[in-house]
Amino acid sequence: MKILTIVGARPQFIKAVLVSKELRKKHKEVLVHTGQHYDRELSEIFFDELGIPEPDYNLGIGSDSHAVQTGKMMIAIEEVLLKEKPDWALVYGDTNSTLAGALAAVKIHIPVAHVEAGPRMFDKNIPEEINRVLTDHICSLLFAPTQTAVDNLKKEGITEGVHLTGDIMLDSFLHFSRVAERKSKILSALGLKRKSYLLATVHRAGNTDNEQDLRSIVDAFLSVDDRIVFPVHPRTEKYLKQYGIYDTLKNAPNMTVIDPVGYLDSIMLTSNARKVLTDSGGLQKEAYFSRVPCITLDETTGWVETVQDGWNTLVASNREKIIEAIKHFQPKGKQRNVFGDGKAAKRMANTLSEFTAYRG
Ligand code: UD1
Ligand code: UDP
Repeated sequence: MKILTIVGARPQFIKAVLVSKELRKKHKEVLVHTGQHYDRELSEIFFDELGIPEPDYNLGIGSDSHAVQTGKMMIAIEEVLLKEKPDWALVYGDTNSTLAGALAAVKIHIPVAHVEAGPRMFDKNIPEEINRVLTDHICSLLFAPTQTAVDNLKKEGITEGVHLTGDIMLDSFLHFSRVAERKSKILSALGLKRKSYLLATVHRAGNTDNEQDLRSIVDAFLSVDDRIVFPVHPRTEKYLKQYGIYDTLKNAPNMTVIDPVGYLDSIMLTSNARKVLTDSGGLQKEAYFSRVPCITLDETTGWVETVQDGWNTLVASNREKIIEAIKHFQPKGKQRNVFGDGKAAKRMANTLSEFTAYRG
């Protein structure tokens, strides 16, 4: 069986690595990188560090408006699909690369499997919500990370092809945490002691593209004494510079502003932080896996279990709420086993194999 995997953005490389490994034991995988992320820190570093095979195709699409980026991706992906004629297309998460891959494939009758189907933020202003909802509605196989995701799909009338696999990011986290312990030098490089700092990441359009919101977050960071390590996504750097607040942030005595880091450094920084401040879906889960309190810089989250369990609090870009949470937020509850057992990759590969055997 031939599976054509489409990835393009940082979290997708992290989600795909162990699934690819499993698939390649039995099947042929063709790996397509859309080129949505292209800076070394957002792309190549993950291939090098995690041992992801070189993509068979890099479409080099790059950054643009949603329609231009998604449209260009669809055109280029369709060409590859027609040439490779895979049995399945496999897409991950909720980026423009996800939607473009799924839509290009399903239109030419290539069935699509979606890893991380079902989480919902219930807000159609969020581009990722549109990508995820549309992708889920055109896929034949839906790998749901949590029971909540399965329930969300059911409410939208999607029950066929849904498999509760557990969260693939838990697989990656468990596997690469051990590697990170051995290889990552980030704590000593930055002079960080365990639990002596907070880790921050910001990149959601809802926070970066609006000056007032980004200023409010930065203001909160500058109003506390805690040391804050902040690997800055290029989207955020662009807007911080545009709003004229990048230098103030970088030079503030409590801030350690750095370039985006690789995955091994990211999980070391997360698991050793006192608290995590983030609008990243992936970081919210990794904080939970590490049993580190998470302060989410968003009004809503697809990972509601982390909030229900008391390990995550939603403060949006509200300066006062951020400061209050930095000072006082403490987890209240026990963690349930909601993200599975770290064997999602195996389950997905087995399901794809069984499905094909069944169809003949
Ligand atoms: C994208 C995804 C988001 C995901 C995030 C992971 C969409 C709509 N958004 O957001 O769901 O959480 O990736 O990090 O698909 N840029 C660079 N270098 C790069 C890539 C981007 O400088 O290698 C800058 C460009 O100025 C670009 C901006 O970042 O315009 C945004 O990039 P884009 O890929 O459109 O969205 P992300 O914010 O990265
Ligand atoms: N991450 C990373 N380097 C960084 C920041 C994040 O490797 O500088 C990792 C992080 O550990 C998580 C993933 O990137 O596994 C999350 O991706 P991102 O925040 O870009 O997107 P999201 O999860 O919000 O879609």
